[in-house]
Amino acid sequence: MLETTVVNEISNGADTSYGYRETLAISQKVNWRIEDIIGGDKKLDFSKRFMPEALARVEKLSFLNDDEKRVLNHIRGNSYLSIFVIVEEFILPFVLDHLRSSLDDDDDRSQAYLQFAGEEAKHMQLFKRFGEEFRQGFPSECKVIGPASEIRKAILAHDPLSVGIAILMIEWMSQGHYIDSIKDDGEIDAQFKSLLKNHWLEEAQHAKLDTRMVETLADGLGAAAIAKGIDGFFEIGSFLDNGLKQQTEFDLESFELATGRKLTDDERKEFTDIQLQANRWTFIGSGMVHPKFLQTIERLGAVQKKRIIEAAPLFC
Ligand SMILES: [Fe+2]
Ligand SMILES: [Fe+2]
Repeated sequence: MLETTVVNEISNGADTSYGYRETLAISQKVNWRIEDIIGGDKKLDFSKRFMPEALARVEKLSFLNDDEKRVLNHIRGNSYLSIFVIVEEFILPFVLDHLRSSLDDDDDRSQAYLQFAGEEAKHMQLFKRFGEEFRQGFPSECKVIGPASEIRKAILAHDPLSVGIAILMIEWMSQGHYIDSIKDDGEIDAQFKSLLKNHWLEEAQHAKLDTRMVETLADGLGAAAIAKGIDGFFEIGSFLDNGLKQQTEFDLESFELATGRKLTDDERKEFTDIQLQANRWTFIGSGMVHPKFLQTIERLGAVQKKRIIEAAPLFC
């Protein structure tokens, strides 16, 4: 009943104020534990797909049979887990730094950001826990990009406004991911669906707090400084995109290793084109075109919103 109330509040956008106290109150109501989602009798079912097709796009690869499509979907599920560990690794210190810079101003604000940071630390553990379950059930090794600590250093070297905007994109993106999975035909593994749902429930509050964070970071900045912030956002996007290119190559290797099937040159090209675009949509595009993300960017300037809208098709 409690969960239904919270889901309704999030889905209906009832909490539109983005107030620190209101956002914190919803976070405290949601607050699930990792053991509620994975472990014990809650195991991954490898006979089912893990990722919603809207993100995995395995059906587009017509040269694969159903079993192979399921294996590729599983590999994409594992990449999803490891990429979220990477992004949580730079979100957590960024949120703590932002909070620390004005710790005495507002108690509700402090508590809301501490809750946000605590939830991201928990999410990191959750994604790692799913990764362990994956490795126990999947027949071969799947390579993933990293190390997360190096990626964190590279991202956090950018202008704070650029990082704040990139994180805002990621928070809204995770909202789209669960909505995409609801639209699927209910064929997804129950634990993976629960992962997407529970992440969505907590990220809904992060997206609001991040909106406030970007507003604070942009406060008082002139048009040139805002434009520089968006330049940095594009640099981060391009850095992430390079990581996704590498991950798509790793996924192809993992697929051949797991299935024992050697793809022809034409099949490899089709695989890479479609899967890179699927990764781009999953980790960049679905956030870039999210209406709430664009709403914040519009407040930074119509020109900046136009730049993002014009770049979005590359990631869709
Ligand atoms: Fe998270
Ligand atoms: Fe988050």
